[in-house]
Amino acid sequence: MLAEVSKNIFLYASRSKILNKAAKKWGLRFGASQVVAGETIESAIAKVKELNEKGLVCTLDHLGEFVSNREEAIEATQYNIRTLEAIHQAGVNSNLSVKLTQLGLDIDWNFCLENMIKIVETAKQYNNFVRIDMEDSAHCQATLDILRELRKTYDNVGTVIQAYLYRSEQDVKDLKGVSLRLVKGAYKESPEVAYQDKRKIDENYMKIIKEHLLGGSYTAIATHDHCIIEKVKQFTAEHNIPRNQFEFQMLYGFRTDMQLQLVKEGYKMRVYVPFGNDWFGYFMRRLAERPQNVSFALRGLFSK
Ligand code: FDA
Repeated sequence: MLAEVSKNIFLYASRSKILNKAAKKWGLRFGASQVVAGETIESAIAKVKELNEKGLVCTLDHLGEFVSNREEAIEATQYNIRTLEAIHQAGVNSNLSVKLTQLGLDIDWNFCLENMIKIVETAKQYNNFVRIDMEDSAHCQATLDILRELRKTYDNVGTVIQAYLYRSEQDVKDLKGVSLRLVKGAYKESPEVAYQDKRKIDENYMKIIKEHLLGGSYTAIATHDHCIIEKVKQFTAEHNIPRNQFEFQMLYGFRTDMQLQLVKEGYKMRVYVPFGNDWFGYFMRRLAERPQNVSFALRGLFSK
């Protein structure tokens, strides 16, 4: 009950334009620096370097919320292009994750596609890869349509499929051959479109992981759930799925010990590294997801 209340408060805060705007001026606070890799490209690249040295590969995500006009979407597109250039110049091992609503999906589908073409084309020049994060279910079909359009020309782009959506089993079948990041799903969805029961979500998660792996497609298993990770290890060993056909992914600052343990065991482990001054919404959503993360925030209150 208390957990549900605090979850709703954090989700409410994450959607507040006033708080998000104010937070840009505060600088990283409340322990956010433990899960956000700084406010600039330079600070993020420095973190990626540190992680690479420990055997972890990365995906960089330039944080952004509430893009409502073309100028902001163009600015976000250019920032993503600059991030790809910075990755190349620094010679670090990281690809890029993007959110289509930042790039104009709510403004105009074709405009968003044009912005994505610029980003994916830049990535191609640098021999790099772009992962389209999946947002709420209202954006799912439009996101998959953009992916399909891009895949007609580019193979260095993939997306994310969420196990809580009923449609995902079919989507994974339709996306055979495409590099997918598989997750449980982070948004509040209705019973009309998504499983609500944790057990059902976990079951469907394993189902789509197996489907994609057995189809021979590259699969990123993005979870902090040790039970799922153990099952994937067992399944890939039993079915002789080569280690270069899949990777584990976790968020920056989460289960760091387990990340390093997986590297030690010889698995590819990618860290999702968010950065930028628009950190507040991301940080609030992480607090909503896992009440234990609040300890970060409390520690941060006293350390900054
Ligand atoms: P879940 O929260 O279900 O926890 C299961 C169990 O794991 C817990 O009961 C606990 O035992 C253990 N556990 C979990 N977190 C822990 C921690 N921090 N410390 C210790 N134990 C812990 N979502 C989305 O909708 N679209 C997207 O594009 C993405 N992208 C994405 C990228 C990456 C790299 C990750 C890791 C996640 C996403 N997600 C996402 C988020 C995803 O959908 C999901 O909401 C979160 O990962 C939480 O679910 P988990 O599978 O991690 O475990």
